Amino acid sequence: MPIIRQMDARLANMIAAGEVVDRPASVIKELVENAIDANATHVNVEVFDMGMSKMIVTDNGVGMDHIDAKHAFSRHATSKIKDEYDLSHIRTLGFRGEALAAIASVSKVTLKTRQEGSDGYMVVFEGGHFVSEGAATLNKGTVIEVKDLFYNTPARFKYIKSDLAEKNQITDIFDRLALAHPEIRFSLSMDGKKIKETFGKPDFHQLIDAIYGSRMTQGMVHFSKVVQKITMKGYLLSPHIARSRKKDISIFVNGRYIKNYALVQAVIDGYHSFMMVGKYPIALIHIEMDPSLLDCNVHPQKYEVKFVNEMILAYHIEAYVKEALTLSRHDIPETLKTIHKVEPDTLYTPLQLDLSGVKEENIIEEGSIPIHKLPDMNYVGVFSGTYLIFQNEEGMYLVDQHAAAERVRYEHYVNVLKSPLKARRLMLMGFQLDMTDQEKDVIKHHLHDFEAVGFIFNEEIALMEVPTWLRDEEIDLAIEAMIDMLESEKNIDLAKLRDALAKDISCKGAIKANKALSMVEVEHLMKMLQICENPYHCPHGRPTIIKLSHYDIERMFKRVV
Ligand SMILES: Nc1ncnc2c1ncn2[C@@H]1O[C@H](COP(=O)(O)OP(=O)(O)OP(=O)(O)O)[C@@H](O)[C@H]1O
Ligand SMILES: [Mg+2]
Repeated sequence: MPIIRQMDARLANMIAAGEVVDRPASVIKELVENAIDANATHVNVEVFDMGMSKMIVTDNGVGMDHIDAKHAFSRHATSKIKDEYDLSHIRTLGFRGEALAAIASVSKVTLKTRQEGSDGYMVVFEGGHFVSEGAATLNKGTVIEVKDLFYNTPARFKYIKSDLAEKNQITDIFDRLALAHPEIRFSLSMDGKKIKETFGKPDFHQLIDAIYGSRMTQGMVHFSKVVQKITMKGYLLSPHIARSRKKDISIFVNGRYIKNYALVQAVIDGYHSFMMVGKYPIALIHIEMDPSLLDCNVHPQKYEVKFVNEMILAYHIEAYVKEALTLSRHDIPETLKTIHKVEPDTLYTPLQLDLSGVKEENIIEEGSIPIHKLPDMNYVGVFSGTYLIFQNEEGMYLVDQHAAAERVRYEHYVNVLKSPLKARRLMLMGFQLDMTDQEKDVIKHHLHDFEAVGFIFNEEIALMEVPTWLRDEEIDLAIEAMIDMLESEKNIDLAKLRDALAKDISCKGAIKANKALSMVEVEHLMKMLQICENPYHCPHGRPTIIKLSHYDIERMFKRVV
């Protein structure tokens, strides 16, 4: 007896919905993309309970007539493409004709819409079922209200993470849509409170400041190039504003935010000699190209795009980023330029031999006797500006000065961070950090966690008190390391946080490779390394010291076999 049967459309929609709408933020994305495709110049997004109770997207676009208003909720119903040719020449953000059907199948949706010169119309769907329709009053455009998301798919409902995670997802998606379309005025509010607003003007300084927070575009550089009819525009924020993750490198193609490893890497490579190791910039790259040279139909959410010429694009982007940043160097003060000539990689990093705050007593438990784990050796000189050469009767030793300084500073910080509550010092005035609004938000949500490690913020998220052990120039690093941790981990593991913090600060402040050390500095460094718990490795596991024995050297010269 046959057991296979055709699914009804509602069940099929629910299954398909899983790919298009996996969380509140993707509903926002689909609705705003529809508004953009409808030529709206103003898009308003309202979110309640992180989107779980209600989301409303209002636009002033072209609207729909009463037949389309209902038809829009059928699967595979779209006004944007009609044949295969259109599919390979996509200029709109949507084209699959499934977003509204998917959203309506897992929520309760009310759509109101009005075209120029017509009356307004309203349709209501619940869990994929049509409920009612009728006249509605509204301005030209469309208002979609989505309530009780996932009310009929409990497994998906449970999957939704913490409030903060959802909030970040929503603001991330909103930011990308707004950054892709400077010509549209966007606003986002959460639980009745306005969070962000853009101006609808083609001014990227204003736009980026509105999205990432004021003062972020100081020192921003820009390029605009056309190669083989492909326009590439870059908005490159100063390398001073370094992030620990790559997510603020945004690539847009024909007004669509995409995720593309090669192009993001091209931006990173372009910034290479301007950034600290392990840090990433905030940058936007806008590409305009013939849509037949790309395929957006890779995944229902359309973040992935296949290019005919990806490697060529990456090659050009890297070169343009590098060029724009290099040219901008002409604006930097004379004093820094000199430093640049000597030592390009350290322009934006502390140049000091910063072991100053590191005292022996911070490393050794009181009363304990330092164990000499490193051999006695005599300093010979320095190789390649980075490796300190030592010798003794057993052979020759090379010490990586950066790795060694990192180890020393790491153990110092691990120690001081063990009792961070002990003493705090007041900042003279509230200290404003260069932070995106999203980062400020993380702090707002975790004020207690920051307090636990000695940082007190006021309501405007200006820093009021910091632990005494932290030097002014390390404040940014410390806060950033903590935000990173809080963003990526749901729960805060203080021990882990302290370790990450110690690693981060110790690496950033440590002596760089190529920094010439005086004899006194070498002695100090080796003395400190000597008494480290683990003098042999930097906190990231690389060796601090390697040995070439007499035997090794004689063998290399073929004196012995
Ligand atoms: N805000 C809006 N203003 C005007 N028309 C809209 C709006 N939202 C949806 N529509 C109409 O409803 C149709 C269906 O929308 P839906 O989002 O389901 O599909 P799509 O945008 O065509 O493709 P995709 O599934 O890729 O988003 C659209 O093609 C469009 O004609
Ligand atoms: Mg759509």
